[in-house]
Formats: sequence, structure tokens, C-alpha cells
Amino acid sequence: MRIPDDKIEEVRATVELVDVAGEYTRMKRSGSRYKGLCPFHDENTPSFTVDPEKNLYHCFGCKAGGDLFKFVQEVEGMSFIESVRMLAERAGVDLPEGDAPEESDKRAGIHHALRFAANFYFKRLMRSDEGEAALRYLHERGFEDDTIKEFGLGWAPDAWDGLLEAAQEEQIKPETLEEAGLVKARKKSDGYYDRFRGRIMFPILSHVGKVLGFGGRILDADDDAPKYINTPETAVYNKRRVLYGMHQARRAIRDAGKALLVEGYTDVTALHQAGVETAVASSGTALTRQQIELLGRYADRIVLLYDADEAGVRAAMRGIDRILEESLAPYVVALPEGQDPDSFVFERDAEAFREYVEEHRDDFVAFKYAQAGREGQLDTPESKAEAQREVIRSIAQIPDRLTQDTYVERASDVLGVPDIHLHEPPPRRAACGQRAATR
Ligand code: UTP
Ligand code: MN
Repeated sequence: MRIPDDKIEEVRATVELVDVAGEYTRMKRSGSRYKGLCPFHDENTPSFTVDPEKNLYHCFGCKAGGDLFKFVQEVEGMSFIESVRMLAERAGVDLPEGDAPEESDKRAGIHHALRFAANFYFKRLMRSDEGEAALRYLHERGFEDDTIKEFGLGWAPDAWDGLLEAAQEEQIKPETLEEAGLVKARKKSDGYYDRFRGRIMFPILSHVGKVLGFGGRILDADDDAPKYINTPETAVYNKRRVLYGMHQARRAIRDAGKALLVEGYTDVTALHQAGVETAVASSGTALTRQQIELLGRYADRIVLLYDADEAGVRAAMRGIDRILEESLAPYVVALPEGQDPDSFVFERDAEAFREYVEEHRDDFVAFKYAQAGREGQLDTPESKAEAQREVIRSIAQIPDRLTQDTYVERASDVLGVPDIHLHEPPPRRAACGQRAATR
């Protein structure tokens, strides 16, 4: 089936080639262009460039070049039509249905319902009496209207069928709303009810800006209800693959080559508003391999901001090892007791936050060793040696040899051990090897 030209142009205008290319090779800004290792031929110095203004690519090495669609055709081995369909899907541009398989119909229906819901909640927040208290609350917390718009925040009315009714007027079926995680089926009778009621809504977008789900915050965090409820796993939402704020942050992350990982929705929005646009959050889960992979398309460093409490430290430890396995460089910053980034920038300001991060940023070697010190592990020779081994094991996980070497140097400084002892993880001796045997 022919795809109308205006649809093709819409896709071209919506999807940025540098983002697409960034999924195949890491692109870095270089003047007015982006540069990276060419995905079409083997090379060690980047000669593949993307011009973000013209949305065109060119490789000075192998002379490959063309537009968005050509890139996808070449790199995926697709036909032109297939490349348009794939990019349209990503851009949220609806194409006339060919004989699409049932599964993609279903997903399209869910995406449509989610987009409708995001709009509905947004209007309820900005343009209705019932949203007034929520809007006032957000303003009191320092949210500006531009931020509310950029992140598409909303208000879910405190009713059982607010969304349900509005959606039905638009011919969106309750079954589709249920598949989207927006309503739940009643248990004792027929029918459905809204999942999100009386909550401030944070739409969770894919990195290309499609609505995948929501986090809903209660207005008064007093009663027994959980502070946040989130969209469950659905056909389109898998929390392990998504980072909150990635859509708004991705350009800043690419330009800086680093991402700032925080804990909460409000931390992302508050930092963004304060001009720290590289912040993203893994909503309510430990950082996953898939999330790190996603970040790896844009950055080579990840700065973990964590609570100095026990759970926070443990999460940071786990994050560090995963990040190393994915060949990215982890850094950590401990926040002051009882503060999150949102409260920090609210009480102080963006500049103070930036200074704080600069001053308190540790590489993982320093962090792990200092943590061992805090846990009293450096007090006996045996436990000290074990703490050193632990650091060396992390270094051994770094797949890239050169990076490994620089961390070996760093560890030599921090641990006070000669380089030569650090290059290979020391063999575990049987005599003191109980730990080794159980690990
Ligand atoms: P926090 O309790 O730190 O909340 O949860 P917050 O983000 O600082 O929100 P405010 O500032 O009190 O409004 C951190 C993150 O953990 C997830 C959410 O993603 C939240 O942003 N979370 C928290 C849940 O999913 N469910 C909960 O009940 C609580
Ligand atoms: Mn908070």
C-alpha cells in the first residue's frame, strides 16, 4: 500500500536522525554536527557524521550517505516502505493501515488510549476547577507552568469513572483502557473503574516521546494509600526498559556525555527546571541492564545520586557493577541526610546543587574503598585485603583494557598498593578461601 507523501514528510520532520544513528553508534557533538564510528565500515577514528539541521548523514571513510530512511534501510537491510513504517511507529505518526498483523493493531490501540489519557489528565489539571488544588500544590512546591507542560503533568479526578467515561465518548473501549493499565475490571460485578483517582499524574514517556504509562502521586501523603501508584506491566510498558525523563533529557545527556541518575519523578522535573537537564530516574526499580544500555547510546558516564542510608548505598553498589559490565563509567554522589535532589534545589538553588555534585563526586574505586572503611573493613589486615580484592574484582569486570588500566592506576593511588599487584585479581588461596568457596 502506498504511503502518502505528507506522512513521509511528517516522519522526516519528527524523527531525528542523530537519535536513530545513536542507537547503532555513539554520537558526540562536534561543532554543528555529530560524529561517531561509522556503522557501515570498520574504523577506529570517527568519520561518520550527522548534520542535525538537515537530518542527513555522511561518512568520510566509506562515503556512505543519505537521509533518515536511507540510513535505516542500509543499517537494517529493510525496504523503503519498511523503514517508513518503523520510523512512523517510533514517531507516533499514524499511517493508513496496511494489512497490519493483529498484535500491532492492539499496540496501536493502547498507544492511542494512553495518549488520550495523558491529554485528559493534563486538561483536568490546567483547566478545571477540580484540578485547582493539585495545581496550587504543584506551584507551592515550585513547579513552573512550563515544566508542567514540558513533562505533561496532569490530574486524575477523584472519581471511579472520570477517565472511563471521557474515553468512551471518544470510542475508546474499556478493554483497551484495561490493556493500557488505565482501568481495572470490577471483581464482583461487570464493568471497570479508573486505576488512578485523585492523583497528580506523571506520564512516563519512551525516549522518543510516546506515552507508555503513568506514575500517580497522591495529593496528601498522609493516609494508608501508597504515595505513588504506577502503571503495571503492559504490552507497551516494561519498567525495566524505560527511564523517566529520558525523552526530555536525551539531548543534554548526549551533549554532556553523561547522565545523572536520580530516584524520583519530582527529582527529574525539579532538576530539569533548575537547568540540570541530564537527570533521569529509574522509576521505583534498581537500575537495570536495559536502562544502562539505553543510556549507553547517549553517554559514557553515569553519575548515581543516592541517599546516604543503607538501602541507598546498597543500590549504588549494585548500580556500579552493572554499569561497569556495560562498559560505562560509574560515578557516585551521596546526598546530604534527608535530602533528595528536588528538596535540595528547592531549599537552596541550582548553583548550590551543581557545586555539591562537583565536590562530592567519587569514582567507584574511591567510593567502594571509602565504604569499606565506613563498615570497619579496613581495621584488620584480612578484611582490608578482602576490601582491596573487592575493588580489584570490579575493575576486572571492565571489558575495555585501556579503561581497566586507568582504573588500575587509580586503585593503586587509592588503595596504596603497587600497580603490579592489581592487574589480575589475586588468586584466592585455599587456606583463607571459605569466602571464595561460597561465592
Ligand atoms: P520518594 O518517596 O522519594 O518520592 O520515591 P519522591 O519522588 O521524592 O516524591 P515527592 O517529592 O515526595 O513528591 C522515589 C520514587 O520511588 C517510586 C516513584 O518513582 C518515586 O518517584 N515510588 C515511591 C513508587 O513507585 N511508589 C511509592 O509508593 C513510592
Ligand atoms: Mn521528593
